[in-house]
Amino acid sequence: MAIRKIVMHPAEILEQSCKEVVRFDKKLARILDDMYDTMIEFDGVGLAAPQIGLDARIAIVDIDDDFGTIEMMNPRIIETSGEQTDPEGCLSFPGLYGEVTRPNYVMIKAFDRKGREYTLEAEGFLARAIQHEIDHLDGILFTTKVSKYLKEEELEGVESE
Ligand code: CO
Repeated sequence: MAIRKIVMHPAEILEQSCKEVVRFDKKLARILDDMYDTMIEFDGVGLAAPQIGLDARIAIVDIDDDFGTIEMMNPRIIETSGEQTDPEGCLSFPGLYGEVTRPNYVMIKAFDRKGREYTLEAEGFLARAIQHEIDHLDGILFTTKVSKYLKEEELEGVESE
């Protein structure tokens, strides 16, 4: 396992749609393990493959709740509802935080590291983190959704994704 370098904005890889994962092999497992180590190292709650320079639909989320680490390959949003507005940050934009409005509930389908498809439902902050990561796989950055940037004194315990 290894800590990878995080790609900072601006970078082409952060603004392109990533390729589907087709092989669920040892190489994928190593990428996922490295992504986890990298996310923890930089105190993030999520990380997408383009953020470590890989053109692949791979993302992880871990908000330190009962779900543990959620590994998503080729994730897609099936359903959303409600609305939430909260501060958001991104490991590719250190020190930048802004309010983003997103659906409060999300249902996704994705594949795990063994290539098994699963369905997951999430609300609140977990739903926010999942949507932030899936956006990364389509080259959509949170800055395109910020309604208001926040000053440091307005932040309390905001984590980056
Ligand atoms: Co991000």
